[in-house]
Amino acid sequence: SPLRIAVLAGDGIGQEVVPEGLRVLDAAARRFGIALQLDHFDFASCDYYLRHGEMLPANWKEQIGGHDAILFGAVGWPQTVPDHVSLWGSLLQFRREFDQYVNLRPAKLMPGVHAPLIKRDGSAYAPGEIDMLIVRENTEGEYSSIGGRMFAGTEREVVIQETVMSRIGVDRVLRYAFELARSRPRKHLTSATKSNGISITMPYWDERVQAMSADYPDVMRDQFHIDILTAHFVQRPHTFDVVVASNLFGDILSDLGPACCGTIGIAPSANLNPERRFPSLFEPVHGSAPDIAGKGIANPIAQIWSAALMLDFLGHREAHDAILRAIETVLAPKSGAPRTPDLGGTATTADLGRAVAECI
Ligand code: NAI
Ligand code: MG
Repeated sequence: SPLRIAVLAGDGIGQEVVPEGLRVLDAAARRFGIALQLDHFDFASCDYYLRHGEMLPANWKEQIGGHDAILFGAVGWPQTVPDHVSLWGSLLQFRREFDQYVNLRPAKLMPGVHAPLIKRDGSAYAPGEIDMLIVRENTEGEYSSIGGRMFAGTEREVVIQETVMSRIGVDRVLRYAFELARSRPRKHLTSATKSNGISITMPYWDERVQAMSADYPDVMRDQFHIDILTAHFVQRPHTFDVVVASNLFGDILSDLGPACCGTIGIAPSANLNPERRFPSLFEPVHGSAPDIAGKGIANPIAQIWSAALMLDFLGHREAHDAILRAIETVLAPKSGAPRTPDLGGTATTADLGRAVAECI
């Protein structure tokens, strides 16, 4: 039976890059004989909100909960809907309700992408020399809806928002990260913390890391407070392999990591429910980019790479690898392939999508 994929393009450049993700997905499916059923949905977008007053229909779980995976574009259009309304009303519901507790975000220096950083000795990074996987906790932590506002609108106004860490929630994402580190050649896991300042939850996070490390004597482990960790990302990004972090810290590191690799326009992400009780969701790290939306110049590679991660998760490693090779071939400096403006060219989103598809 075909793989059933729910496709939600969302807002802004989501509408422009998702078709390119599908173009390449289709090419890979043909080449490897994978049967796909694509079902398109218009909810989880600010357009839908303006028409219905909600980001999602009441029965959204029935509509997409039975699919094998969700391919998502981006959500947000702050000119019409506040960001916390659009994000909490859609993507954050998916992550929670489908228990996608791992947000896996690769940051890899690709060929042909201008690296904004140089090494301390003044030399340049070679493609592949920066190659890390950021594992972000995706269902609890700092992203909690527990809190409130008191004395609203008065001088005594107070706002509180709690951080939630459960043993199950912390342990399962750490377990995933330790296993991932063990599966990689360098077997190195870095934990992001801030236990000097955040004195209750972060020491707990460190304690769980420490406890679990007993099961992984073969994994080299270190930890840094988030402030200096961001500095290390900039000054020696090549020394990181797998980096595990809470929801907020992981969010920050997973924009910084890809930015250290040249452009967030190529950074993919996988929101995983590793037990496969619910569909996992695959989306670019970037958002809807209102500043370039409608111009047809967004880089589609983050979306294409996200589709590749989806195929990998669904058991088609060879199709994933073929897409990655195609991306690397197209990006390579002398390929002559079209490049979008963020890559220093003048090509359109569709030009670049077609080039990757043709490579497959
Ligand atoms: P953003 O990622 O949309 O844009 C940041 C900058 O990167 C912009 O200058 C944009 O032009 C550029 N950029 C992003 N993707 C690109 C691509 N594929 N090719 C070339 N350039 C690209 O982040 P921003 O501006 O903070 O947020 C805009 C909207 O997106 C907001 O409504 C925000 O809430 C939402 N958002 C949604 C996310 C999601 O759906 N997962 C993630 C991040 C933001
Ligand atoms: Mg983010």
